Order: sequence, then C-alpha cells, then structure tokens
Amino acid sequence: MTQTLTREAVWVQVCELNDILLHAGVAAKVNGKQIAIFRVEENLLYATSNFDPFTKANVLSRGIIGTKGDVYKVASPLLKHSFNLKTGEYLDDPTITIPTYEVRVEDGKVWVKA
Ligand code: FES
Repeated sequence: MTQTLTREAVWVQVCELNDILLHAGVAAKVNGKQIAIFRVEENLLYATSNFDPFTKANVLSRGIIGTKGDVYKVASPLLKHSFNLKTGEYLDDPTITIPTYEVRVEDGKVWVKA
C-alpha cells in the first residue's frame, strides 16, 4: 500500500515584503516544502518550488530574474535553465514545469500558500 504524504496547502506568513530585495529571490520552508519567492516588481511577487528539476538541487531562489517578452522568468544559477515564474513552464520545453504557489502581500507581510 502506498501512503500519500502530500500535505494540504495552507497560507503561511513568510517574511516582510521589505526583507526581499527588488529583483531577487529568497528561499523559505512553507508547510514542509522548499519554496522560492521572487520580488520581480516593487509589489509583484511570484513563488515557485525551489527545486531545479534539471540539476536536482534546491537552488532556484538564487537564480537570475529576467524577462522574456513580457514574461518574468528565473534562470537556474547552475545550468541556467529558465522557467516562467507565473506558470512554472520551462521555457525551452513547456511539457516540463515546476510547481508554482500563490503569494500575496498584506500589511507589508508576505504570505505563501503551499
Ligand atoms: S547566481 Fe549569479 S552567476 Fe550564478
């Protein structure tokens, strides 16, 4: 018998908005999951899994934020594979995606649902 260990997603307060530098990412453990949170504009954040499926390392929060057209992306700091921050799609092959999470700012505090 296989046991499912998936936890139900919950909203967790992670940090203050101003703890995250503009155009940078941070890593946080939310509900047991490694999450990467990116501040791409003053008041626009995205959250994805911190796990890079290509290198099998939890490094995406240290990736390089950029844009492709009007889409925000992060390039893994290891082999530079790029992911759409909104959808989690790998830009060179959309059949590969990383998990994305809801994120919101309330009273200057960052909340993530994971
Ligand atoms: S993270 Fe800056 S060069 Fe790799």
